[in-house]
Amino acid sequence: MTTDTDSGKKLAALEALKWLEDGMVVGVGTGSTVNLFIDALAAQRHRIRGAVSSSSASSQRLAAAGIEVLDLNSAGSLELYVDGADETDTHRRLVKGGGGALTREKIIAAASRKFVCIVDESKVVDVLGRFPVPVEVIPMARSYVARQLVALGGQPVWREQYLTDNGNQILDVHGLRILDPLAIENAIENITGVVTAGVFARRPADVVLVGDPGGVRKL
Ligand code: A5P
Repeated sequence: MTTDTDSGKKLAALEALKWLEDGMVVGVGTGSTVNLFIDALAAQRHRIRGAVSSSSASSQRLAAAGIEVLDLNSAGSLELYVDGADETDTHRRLVKGGGGALTREKIIAAASRKFVCIVDESKVVDVLGRFPVPVEVIPMARSYVARQLVALGGQPVWREQYLTDNGNQILDVHGLRILDPLAIENAIENITGVVTAGVFARRPADVVLVGDPGGVRKL
């Protein structure tokens, strides 16, 4: 059965193809919405030079679609990055990392000129923080970082039995009402042992495509 969420994701994913230009290397994120983008990109693979991927899962899907996966170090700056999000506010600041790929996603976002984010309507919020903020941590620092996150007002929960593609662990931080996303991003990333906070405010999306069954709107 196709839900409103599914069709919203698909419409947003298809809309993102409009940002494609011939000869590009495309940054590709992670998640169910991006999977739909990869599926659509497969039909246009002859137009692009390849993709830089934010996760092993996306790399596998890209390769299966016949799209060459390139290393960011050899690809240089990217013209376009397409990725989903767990939450967006109307200023295009995001919470990301539900799929655990936040560090590579933040790196690709930083290295890309245009960041097009694709979401369904359920991801749009007034204030970020309803979705628990993923924080990637160096394993030996997990308990220390958790105590610092409590001091910041959050309730960190260890994502047990899970390691990121970088071999690190994730704390999902509940209960943060993020009125100042940039300040929270900086405060979390200043904790020793934190690799990446899943708040994307320093480098927000340039465009958020919000799909629902009636169409796609742009933030
Ligand atoms: C991956 O780590 C996340 O940042 C994803 O972008 C996010 O979880 C969106 O996933 P869906 O498209 O599956 O909702």
